[in-house]
Amino acid sequence: MNREEKIKLLEEKRQEARMGGGEKRIEAQHKKGKLTARERIELLMDKGSFQETDAFVTHRSKDFGLEKQKFLGDGVITGYGNIDGRLVYVFSQDFTVFGGSLSEMYARKIVKIMDAAMKNGAPLIGLNDSGGARIQEGVLSLAGYADIFYRNTLASGVIPQISAIMGPCAGGAVYSPAITDFNIMVQNSSYMFVTGPNVVKTVTHEEVTSEELGGASVHSSKSGVAHFSAPNDVEAINAIRRLLSYMPQNCEELPFHCTYEPEDDELRPGLNNIVPENPNMPYDIKDVINLVADDDSFMEVHKDFAENMVVGFARLAGRSIGIVANQPAYLAGVLDINSSKKAARFVRFCDAFNIPLLVFEDVPGFLPGTDQEWNAIIVNGAKLLYAFSEATVPRITVITRKAYGGAYDVMNSKHIGADLNFAWPSAEIAVMGAKGAAEIIFRNEIKNADDPQAKWLEKEQEYNEKFANPYIAASVAYVDEVIKPEETRQKLISGFKMLENKVDNLPKKKHGNIPL
Ligand code: HXC
Repeated sequence: MNREEKIKLLEEKRQEARMGGGEKRIEAQHKKGKLTARERIELLMDKGSFQETDAFVTHRSKDFGLEKQKFLGDGVITGYGNIDGRLVYVFSQDFTVFGGSLSEMYARKIVKIMDAAMKNGAPLIGLNDSGGARIQEGVLSLAGYADIFYRNTLASGVIPQISAIMGPCAGGAVYSPAITDFNIMVQNSSYMFVTGPNVVKTVTHEEVTSEELGGASVHSSKSGVAHFSAPNDVEAINAIRRLLSYMPQNCEELPFHCTYEPEDDELRPGLNNIVPENPNMPYDIKDVINLVADDDSFMEVHKDFAENMVVGFARLAGRSIGIVANQPAYLAGVLDINSSKKAARFVRFCDAFNIPLLVFEDVPGFLPGTDQEWNAIIVNGAKLLYAFSEATVPRITVITRKAYGGAYDVMNSKHIGADLNFAWPSAEIAVMGAKGAAEIIFRNEIKNADDPQAKWLEKEQEYNEKFANPYIAASVAYVDEVIKPEETRQKLISGFKMLENKVDNLPKKKHGNIPL
């Protein structure tokens, strides 16, 4: 072979690798409304920045006739490149090759870029579209999965890890996305479950479709496994790019700042009219968030799951922040098992990656009932308490209205390490609502009154006047400042600026024991 022929051979091999499982299977992929693994990478990365590694890897299996069926790349595309100019590592499972199923060599390719992502301190993105373990390879495939899970775990809290589910993701394969920080699922073309509909039917006699069992809508609303659901591949990829923009490269760096032109007047008068006069009336906390944060900067996480708590990323004067907020418009913003878990995981992500936390508090307490108690609201509520308590990033709370009972302590109170606690004049900081409180502490007086109902109302009023305000908490320095709603953005910008160089260390330990 002469020089030209050798170069031609390389080009032919590259072309062969680019074709994955071949024209027909690519066509089938498109017919399902899905992009190919390579098209997804092209969309994800800055134009021309993707560098592929291990494009010529093939499997080593000789069983079940597999030795006669080899595809360059072996069903997964791996490499690195840029998103908005920042280095990221990516793997994209290629369903056109053996249904994207995972073999020994395929896993080795993924492991290689995971190790590189860790050494070079850059985010890892996994695009999942796979029939699971390559059945012909048996334990070699299982070992490959475990190698990946192990690295997902070691990388947790060191580099951001994002998974998109863009096709099947079943069996043990679900555990890699589960360990990563964020899962984005594509509606109607992706599903995740530990055991599929056939096994479910055999074991529990339930008849469900894949979509009903583990589609994007189920996981983004019922189970919370998915943090985002996107209508198609393109939107899912856009979501990954946007999500990444709030994060630093790794746990040793600060998030990227966007350029920000200060406005002449940071006052937001619209905030003055959001909380209704009647404390039992709902309002949408997202109206508050959108008025406080930089325009169009709020990216909600877990939008359809545990809607009584709102979490997400935003920017304040160009800086990334994580927002955790009770949502009075849904179940009165009560804390329950799912909302506690949702917020706790988000708080831990922000803390791991140096993203300051902003909390909006309007919470009537924990949700009562056997369902909550039997499913361990005690342990689950404690997760949020624990997550806030050990967070060392700058932390600011704004109490907009109710801060009742244990929920007052849990929602980033001064006592568990918040740096700045603001309250609006509408804040009510008390052990419980006035009605319940009056009933308990004035029980005898009410019972013995000529008109018990009128007495109850009078006592409720008395309790309200005494406690349904922010001034008692301010008088004992639990609230740093009572602010007008319209001043909130200003106060937060200067507060986070003041906290920019905050240093806070936890006691030395191997690791804590969060109530799981
Ligand atoms: C080898 C596989 C495969 C697999 C699919 N293929 N899954 N090859 N191992 N796991 C191949 C098919 O044989 C077919 O090859 C091609 O991929 C496309 O598959 P189709 O079935 O034609 O596609 P579709 O109808 O879209 O169905 C997709 C599917 C189905 C739902 C994923 O293929 C399926 O059920 N596969 C098996 C899933 C499974 O049981 N996996 C093991 C799970 S247990 P040809 O040559 O015909 O195109 C597991 C354990 C992990 O993963 C444990 C880790 C700890």
